[in-house]
Amino acid sequence: MRQSAPTFTTFVDWMTVDLYEYQARDMFEKHGVPVLQGIVADTPEEARAAAATIGGLTVVKAQVKTGGRGKAGGVKVAKTPDDAFEAAKAILGLDIKGHVVKRLMVAEGAAIAQEYYFSVLLDRANRSYLSLCSFEGGMDIEQLAVERPDALARVEVNPTEGITLAKAKEIAVAAKFPAELVDKVAEVFVLLYGVYTAEDATLVEVNPLVLTEDGRILALDGKVTLDANAEFRQPEHAALEDKAAADPLEAKAKEHDLNYVKLDGEVGIIGNGAGLVMSTLDVVAYAGENYGGVKPANFLDIGGGASADVMAAGLSVILGDPQVKSVFVNVFGGITACDAVANGIVAALDMLGDAATKPLVVRLDGNSVDKGREILAARNHPLVTLATTMDDGADRAAALAAK
Ligand SMILES: Nc1ncnc2c1ncn2[C@@H]1O[C@H](COP(=O)(O)OP(=O)(O)OP(=O)(O)O)[C@@H](O)[C@H]1O
Ligand SMILES: [Mg+2]
Repeated sequence: MRQSAPTFTTFVDWMTVDLYEYQARDMFEKHGVPVLQGIVADTPEEARAAAATIGGLTVVKAQVKTGGRGKAGGVKVAKTPDDAFEAAKAILGLDIKGHVVKRLMVAEGAAIAQEYYFSVLLDRANRSYLSLCSFEGGMDIEQLAVERPDALARVEVNPTEGITLAKAKEIAVAAKFPAELVDKVAEVFVLLYGVYTAEDATLVEVNPLVLTEDGRILALDGKVTLDANAEFRQPEHAALEDKAAADPLEAKAKEHDLNYVKLDGEVGIIGNGAGLVMSTLDVVAYAGENYGGVKPANFLDIGGGASADVMAAGLSVILGDPQVKSVFVNVFGGITACDAVANGIVAALDMLGDAATKPLVVRLDGNSVDKGREILAARNHPLVTLATTMDDGADRAAALAAK
């Protein structure tokens, strides 16, 4: 989810990686969670072949990172391989909430008796884990939470204890599973918690978890969000990141090792230190209200050593965003003093030459601020305006973007 308003969610979003259903399915299988066969297909021909391999009833499913695929026509039952071919033709290219379907999973069809809901997630507000579970799946879980909150159990999970078999049974009972099913589903909850911890996930969600007519519990649809901060100990996770689906500007930023998140506004932002950049987003959004709702265009933290190269790379990513109308550079000189930052800005503008086309508002403060301002004043670049304070800079940048 990308948000236009700067919030902590934006920041968190950037530190996490959502998986496709087929990736979640494979991960479940690896950890012993009961799943059905699933084969990825990128063309109707591949879908037909996959259905033939699986045999019998199959379900052709759109692979997009959004919910409600079923309602949008992205999940279709196929009785034969030719049905799967037709279903694939209908689903590929479909636009589901702004996500165009490019890939499918052909799954073995289940004879479903009942549908349930289960998830375990990182509960940031309570510095804990939380499990949500309902005996009544098959419905929009957000809707269930609002309309019938009593039907959705919320059970805190102590991170140091995790979901033991006893805890899993407690969750099943709280979710109103009948006694004869408690042990059966609890076993699967423990396995799903195994995925959550072993893979450093911040969310493992199964909707629906089903009981089949022959009495098996299966995870029919999975959603997994991984904690990108754990990448250092999860070497296999890099392959799961969807570089093609990522924003092209974000991809370019990644090549330069920049901490960049594309947002929806018009004022490009460059700052040093995540905290300063976060507050810059807020200040710009606030100032933008006076100019018809101008908003920040991105999050970009160039870190401590703001060298000319890093500044140039950052500026070129931001200037490459067609939505950007002005740029606000907000730097607090610390170990890297303001004169070095100012030299970096000047060198970056020279490096970019004609590619630098949008007005820049620069606010420097901190170590060697006077020297820094002198350097920028002396260079007198036609695109650069100096601001004295953060509020002043945000106001000028918003005004320039509104022009
Ligand atoms: N392999 C399967 N066999 C039989 N029925 C299935 C299978 N997969 C999905 N279904 C049916 O299709 C419905 C929707 O599937 P699924 O939950 O995967 O998609 P969804 O609409 O994207 O849901 P969500 O909004 O939770 O992402 C399920 O509730 C289930 O009834
Ligand atoms: Mg689902």
